Amino acid sequence: MTPIKVMSIFGTRPEAIKMAPLLLELDRRPEFESVSCLTAQHREMLDSVMSLFDLVAPYDLDIMEPGQTLTTITAKALTGLGKVLAEAKPDFVLVHGDTTTTLAAALAAFYAKIPVGHVEAGLRSGDIYSPYPEEMNRRLVSQIAALHFAPTAGNAANLRREGITDGVFITGNTVIDAMKYTVPRFSGAFESDLDRIDWKTRRVITLTCHRRENFGAPMAEIFTAAKILVERHSDVTLIYPVHPNPIVQTAAREILGGRERIFLIDPLDTVQMHALLARSYLVLTDSGGLQEEAPALGKPVLVLRKETERPEAIQAGTACLAGVECDNILCLAERLLTDPTAYEAMAKARNPYGDGHASTRIADAILWYFGRKADPPANFNP
Ligand code: UD1
Ligand code: UDP
Repeated sequence: MTPIKVMSIFGTRPEAIKMAPLLLELDRRPEFESVSCLTAQHREMLDSVMSLFDLVAPYDLDIMEPGQTLTTITAKALTGLGKVLAEAKPDFVLVHGDTTTTLAAALAAFYAKIPVGHVEAGLRSGDIYSPYPEEMNRRLVSQIAALHFAPTAGNAANLRREGITDGVFITGNTVIDAMKYTVPRFSGAFESDLDRIDWKTRRVITLTCHRRENFGAPMAEIFTAAKILVERHSDVTLIYPVHPNPIVQTAAREILGGRERIFLIDPLDTVQMHALLARSYLVLTDSGGLQEEAPALGKPVLVLRKETERPEAIQAGTACLAGVECDNILCLAERLLTDPTAYEAMAKARNPYGDGHASTRIADAILWYFGRKADPPANFNP
């Protein structure tokens, strides 16, 4: 029987990390011909993931520009993808999450009348401007997709509320599959300045912050809170792998640069990043992926946003919505640094986001959709 030609289209670091285990799963199965197309909305950060997971993409649009805008990413991706789809003629297109690449890829596939599978479907914050533009991107992709791979039951319920009931599968998040790959691969040594840290005596706070809605005043508040925390606690070291966006780089250097016990470092490869999380005392982040990874490693997370589309970790007690005001962030972080009972209550490994088998369920669901499997996969049930 001819294999089903599945084209996975992605372009940023988090999409690559979360698609990687699924690509490996599709490659393992003779029923699929799996090909990837990179928009390369990100460049170095994307290439780092591709090489870590030993992935090769036959198509690469290489669209990234310094300081790119939403319209240029969308226009360049859409034009390039139209040509790739016309040439490659896949039977099915996979997209991931909520980036501008995700929306452009789903739209290009729709224009070519190719069915789309949406990995990490159904996350909703309820506010189209936060996260911006991600909330709108994922809502629009839900209108296009034929199959919706919702990580959690809550995500599937969000889709139901919008009238989307067909082709919805609760799969768990593929990031947990990715961690099964990355965590055992850590050599025990960090490659950057981090090898200078005495992990036994330091309490390490890991910070990441890059969201567009946090640019400007919120980011300044967040960085100021981080700076004060380090000043107040002599046993605390702050590690911040800074996103290469020039806006983020400038703000980070201005407030946190040149200070004792604050490491502003280049982005880490994902094996090193997960090892850093595993050795951290506390995680401060506005990242989506880190909100899912830190709970799996038993690390408390303060979410540096006003809302989150990932309420599961908050309900499980391992994450807390800290907002973007300095005083509030400080107050919550201080408690975790000074009150062992409060810390222990949050620092329990919990895994509301997956069981490491999301990729298997997604591959099975695609086979079922194409009539190559009698039954759909059973849902993930934490
Ligand atoms: C994008 C996604 C966001 C996701 C984030 C993950 C959109 C609109 N945003 O935001 O949802 O959370 O990726 O990191 O799709 N840059 C580099 N090298 C890289 C990557 C980025 O230099 O490898 C710099 C470039 O100057 C680029 C800028 O960062 O123009 C911004 O990149 P962009 O993809 O537009 O936005 P992100 O904030 O990364
Ligand atoms: N990450 C990484 N190196 C870093 C910072 C983050 O590998 O220096 C990983 C992180 O572990 C997670 C993903 O990148 O898997 C999250 O990406 P990001 O925060 O850029 O995007 P988001 O998840 O917010 O869309």
